[in-house]
Amino acid sequence: MDVRRILVRLSICCVLISPPNVLQSQQALRKAAPSVVDKERVKRGEVVFSRHCPICHLGRPSKASPFVGRNLRGILKNVKPEQEIAVRERIREGSDKMPGFRYTLTPAQIEDLMGYLKTYN
Ligand code: HEC
Repeated sequence: MDVRRILVRLSICCVLISPPNVLQSQQALRKAAPSVVDKERVKRGEVVFSRHCPICHLGRPSKASPFVGRNLRGILKNVKPEQEIAVRERIREGSDKMPGFRYTLTPAQIEDLMGYLKTYN
């Protein structure tokens, strides 16, 4: 690569990493960061998770085993509030392939589970 091309790339980088952009992206990150979850909640949520979810959610989904769900790692990482609501609804209501947990778990347990899922990345 000749010097001119390197200079052009460097100047493009400088434009991209100019201070206002850096500030903006940091603000975006802060907004997207999951709210602080208290540790006790996360611990309780982990117990709920390990009892009820891995049987279906630690394998690989395939046509041969339609009742295996995706690995849930990262499911609540940097998500919008609507997506978080959708996950809570799925846990409560289930689907044709997944049981709903609204009668199996208390609302508090579901919130503990949500807290755990936020840290399960
Ligand atoms: C009997 C098996 C089974 C159990 C138990 C189960 N799931 Fe599922 N789950 C599935 C399957 C299969 C899917 C994918 C198909 C679908 O979305 O309905 C799924 C989908 C999901 C989704 C949506 C994933 C996405 O990408 O949108 C979430 C969230 C979820 N499960 C959470 C849980 C949690 C949390 C538990 C434990 C409380 C749990 N599931 C227990 C089978 C199960």
